[in-house]
Amino acid sequence: MDKVNDGGTEHVPPPHTLEKSIALVGLMGAGKTTIGRRLAKRLGVDFVDADAEIEKAAGCSIKDIFECYGEAAFREGERRVICRLMAGPPQVVATGGGAFMDPETRRRVKESGVSVWLKADIKTLVARVGKRDTRPLLAKGDPESILRDLAEKRNPFYAEADIHVESRDGPHDAVVDAVIEALQNRQAA
Ligand code: S3P
Repeated sequence: MDKVNDGGTEHVPPPHTLEKSIALVGLMGAGKTTIGRRLAKRLGVDFVDADAEIEKAAGCSIKDIFECYGEAAFREGERRVICRLMAGPPQVVATGGGAFMDPETRRRVKESGVSVWLKADIKTLVARVGKRDTRPLLAKGDPESILRDLAEKRNPFYAEADIHVESRDGPHDAVVDAVIEALQNRQAA
């Protein structure tokens, strides 16, 4: 991927050069949606949030899906939605924090996409998730201990992602830059 400079803002080339979708994975609060949206803009491709797609398909919020149908039903819908998105044109896909734990979802992402693990320390995650109360898993107790527990269980799976990037506090563009650089290095390798 060549860099094109137009007055200070760095862009990677137009959409057709993105061969595979980019799937952002990582814990709740890692910045998958925030970074994903900006990354897509920089790459000139569409951004899609898997959680929003699941809500659209179900006609209700994730909180309600968990409450009315249970987590297993949510995971089933999540798998279906992500497999559909990965089969579509190259775009940036923000996955929900638990999606990459599912073997079929992981297989599809690996097969037809490039996975990026957005990593953040627990304190950062806790501060970020505190801003919203839309996440049913965090409503069950102390968010910090829940996130610690999830990190322990999930990190080995996230570690299977093609690219690992620190999602530090500070300008979002710095994280986007790091993802783009890692994508370029990967392509050059
Ligand atoms: C979940 C993360 C959420 C959402 C659901 C379950 C999880 O997405 O999919 O509440 O299992 O970690 P975000 O990671 O976008 O918050």
